[in-house]
Amino acid sequence: MRRKIIAGNWKMNKLPNEALDFITELEPLVKNSENEIVLCVPYIDLFYTLLNAQGTNIKIGAQNMHWEKEGAYTGEISSEMLKAIGVEYVIIGHSERRKYFNETDEDVNKKIIKALEVGLKPIVCVGETLEERENHKEKEVIKNQIEKAFKNIKDISNVIIAYEPIWAIGTGKTATSEDANEITKFIREEILKIYGKDVADCAIILYGGSVKPNNAKELFEMSDIDGGLIGGASLNAKDFANIVNYNI
Ligand code: 13P
Repeated sequence: MRRKIIAGNWKMNKLPNEALDFITELEPLVKNSENEIVLCVPYIDLFYTLLNAQGTNIKIGAQNMHWEKEGAYTGEISSEMLKAIGVEYVIIGHSERRKYFNETDEDVNKKIIKALEVGLKPIVCVGETLEERENHKEKEVIKNQIEKAFKNIKDISNVIIAYEPIWAIGTGKTATSEDANEITKFIREEILKIYGKDVADCAIILYGGSVKPNNAKELFEMSDIDGGLIGGASLNAKDFANIVNYNI
């Protein structure tokens, strides 16, 4: 059976002292969970959260990385830097990075290759815009994103995929559990075509987009949804804990 992963994406929120307080508050609330708990925090909070989460069941991730090992890339952070301080996960290709920072499918592919090379687990985001959904293009868009993201990648056993319909992010409009499951299932079928049944059966595919304590259970109990990538609701320790504990 596939394990469940509940990952928070803080986006550009929380100062280091707030991040420390958050881990202190969250830790006792989720200590009995058997789900994998990940918090993807701003770069500046990584070191603090890693220290405070030591010895707990909370794993820490970054929200982006550069694909080069080092060099003249002012303002960037490399995968080696993340790995060196003990980061385990990294979000790659979030729709906000694609939209505001012009990240392309080719950039996403280079980042995944590099993350895997250093032993980070990439959480790769795919998803359609409202316009694409209204034009019934979502499957075509996602198929294209997946094929490009995984180009020349032979082993995706350490990759997590997050289906995040852009129209559901931060809008309070969650995809229905049936719609979300239909697309996660479709993603699994695409993985099957590229990598075969064994890989597809084991692939972890998350749903993200207005996941809250009151809808998490229904979403995460669907056949092909293996957990969630949570934005707004991951900023409050109690809300996030309630989502993590959806199956307790
Ligand atoms: P919200 O949960 O705030 O909709 O954000 C989802 C998201 O973008 C997680 O990466």
